[in-house]
Amino acid sequence: MAKSYSIAVIGGDGTGPEVTREALKVMQAAAAKFNFKLSFTEFDFGAARYLRTGETLPAGAVAEMRKFNAIFLGAIGHPDVKPGILELGILLRLRFELDQYINLRPVRLFPGVETPLKGKTPEHIDMVVVRENTGGIYTAHGGATRVGTPDEIATQLMVYDRRTVDRCLRYAFELKRRRNASNPKYAAKPITLIHKRNVLTYCGDLWYRAFEEMGAKEFPEIKRDYNHIDAANMWFVKNPEWFDVAVTENLFGDIITDLGAMIQGGLGVASGGNINPTGISMFEPMGGSAPKYTGQNVINPIAAIGAGGMLLDTVGEHQAGAAVEQAIMATTPKMKSQNAGRMGFGTTEVGDMVAAAI
Ligand code: IPM
Ligand code: MN
Repeated sequence: MAKSYSIAVIGGDGTGPEVTREALKVMQAAAAKFNFKLSFTEFDFGAARYLRTGETLPAGAVAEMRKFNAIFLGAIGHPDVKPGILELGILLRLRFELDQYINLRPVRLFPGVETPLKGKTPEHIDMVVVRENTGGIYTAHGGATRVGTPDEIATQLMVYDRRTVDRCLRYAFELKRRRNASNPKYAAKPITLIHKRNVLTYCGDLWYRAFEEMGAKEFPEIKRDYNHIDAANMWFVKNPEWFDVAVTENLFGDIITDLGAMIQGGLGVASGGNINPTGISMFEPMGGSAPKYTGQNVINPIAAIGAGGMLLDTVGEHQAGAAVEQAIMATTPKMKSQNAGRMGFGTTEVGDMVAAAI
């Protein structure tokens, strides 16, 4: 009997549902081609529900999510909802409660896509950032006293423990080992740890020692490199071809993956996964809900489609995941631009083209 996967779908706000529709279309095309089944169950979490009911995630929602093989998230965010509410109440809550401790961000320049980096081609921009996704400054340790007075004090702590660091590093090293085996051009490059150990002497030291120890002991064939985060920002722009797998802590990863999205052609093409390697993972386009484009059929679905491909790969359908990526690479050269409204095609047409290329 054909394998079957049940996917929770949170289309979300603004243009989220539009790009989600195209991603599901392409995933179904891949399922038909590689002979497995996908069933989608939609959830209405997001701004509209929050504005109606005051709830971000209703009681039992996280437990409900655990029944699925994976989650697809379109985008959440709405101008009428104060920043932070939906991010904390939906996105970060799912990441934390489902223990999605890896934020996986491929930074790959697809053929025909314009990068702002002069002289760089798909050969030069092909890396993966592994961002730790549950620890660090995102843990909300800290507080504020004397608020509103001239003596106000606020703290927000970068919190890491060895287990959290080790499990992230192990994922990154294992990914690097698979990439090295897949292509000698990757094997020629190191895995790079990114931190700021010249200043963050406690957390940076923990990450660096853990990286060196694990690398030497368990992955001795993999070359290791280290960059401070500020320097890494510079090298991402100047010499992106130096990088293959880059691993880093949560906040540094948040920042550098937006830089990564830009050098690969923008938010229209940048996909990401929130991964629990032994649990329920969640995939999303990097871009937001782009409310001003809602309903116009002009937003780029490539990032969402790419996230769908990552989802298929993560649940174990590796051929289907690779086929989605190939189909994207067959489509991007036909598009005029990756920017909303300038693609030369509508959102649904781009989805149709990628689905047909499967
Ligand atoms: C991301 C986003 C989130 C983050 C926000 C929306 C909370 O920027 O996925 O990178 O900071 O992780
Ligand atoms: Mn971010």
